[in-house]
Amino acid sequence: MIVQAQVSKVRELCDAARAAGKRVGLVPTMGYLHSGHISLVRRAVRAADFTVVSIFVNPTQFGPGEDLERYPVDLDGDLAKCREAGADLVFTPTPATMYPNGFQTYVKVESLSLPMCGRSRPIHFRGVATVVTKLFNIVGPCVALFGQKDYQQLQVIRRMVVDLQQPVEVVGHPTVREPDGLAMSSRNAYLTQEERAAAPCLNRALGALEAEAQERGSLPAHEAVALVRGIIEAAPGTRVDYVEARDAETLEPAEVVGGGRAVVAVAVHLGKTRLIDNRVI
Ligand code: PAJ
Repeated sequence: MIVQAQVSKVRELCDAARAAGKRVGLVPTMGYLHSGHISLVRRAVRAADFTVVSIFVNPTQFGPGEDLERYPVDLDGDLAKCREAGADLVFTPTPATMYPNGFQTYVKVESLSLPMCGRSRPIHFRGVATVVTKLFNIVGPCVALFGQKDYQQLQVIRRMVVDLQQPVEVVGHPTVREPDGLAMSSRNAYLTQEERAAAPCLNRALGALEAEAQERGSLPAHEAVALVRGIIEAAPGTRVDYVEARDAETLEPAEVVGGGRAVVAVAVHLGKTRLIDNRVI
């Protein structure tokens, strides 16, 4: 496995892989890798012949007062996990490489970036779309893997790839969870013991809604939202940012939940940590 921070070297290696007839796969990450990330890497290794993992804590997707400065880092651990999972190349650029002095070009996916996480994080998806486009331009992947845990991000990237005719197949990968149902996230490392004990309430609430929808076939969106919100608010220390029911593809407000057409997405503050989760129902 090669580790490389230089854009020109990464280009050369990916060009050589393509010239040899290999299918290049990309898994973009911000590092501090957990089993969710690694299951994306393993999926990429199966789907491609040359698998690239990028590790870059992307400053442009963090707003003022967010956790850019304290985002957890463990490069040695990450590299060991990537090697184990069968990655061929790990790209570890610096902020100065990705955003040289004078940088002023951004990719903005308009309506899809506005609701849900976009409301409390107004520049977040512009940062994501920009860095992912840059990574696509550097690596030139045939296939790129993204987790469904970040549901809105996945929809933003799918739209961007269509709108900009980026020659990449986007694959969405199911959310990997802890045994108690908490969606794995690098940010779970911030949780105190008490917060960690409360954190499974997101998945528990979504599971209860799923069961209710299965029993009734469907239910009005406002009832679905109230059910999920009630369960989350009953857990100690939680502060709901949003609970929303939206069309699973367009992210327009949904009226009914059930039949696989709606996504119910949640963002919840637990102390200083903001957790997200979702379920297509
Ligand atoms: P990061 O949070 O490191 O996540 C990298 C990828 O792993 C994303 O596609 C994310 O959806 C996926 N992922 C995270 N937790 C997961 C889980 N529990 N199960 C399955 N997949 C999971 O998302 C980002 O980084 C950044 O926004 C990025 C796309 C790299 C752009 O900077």
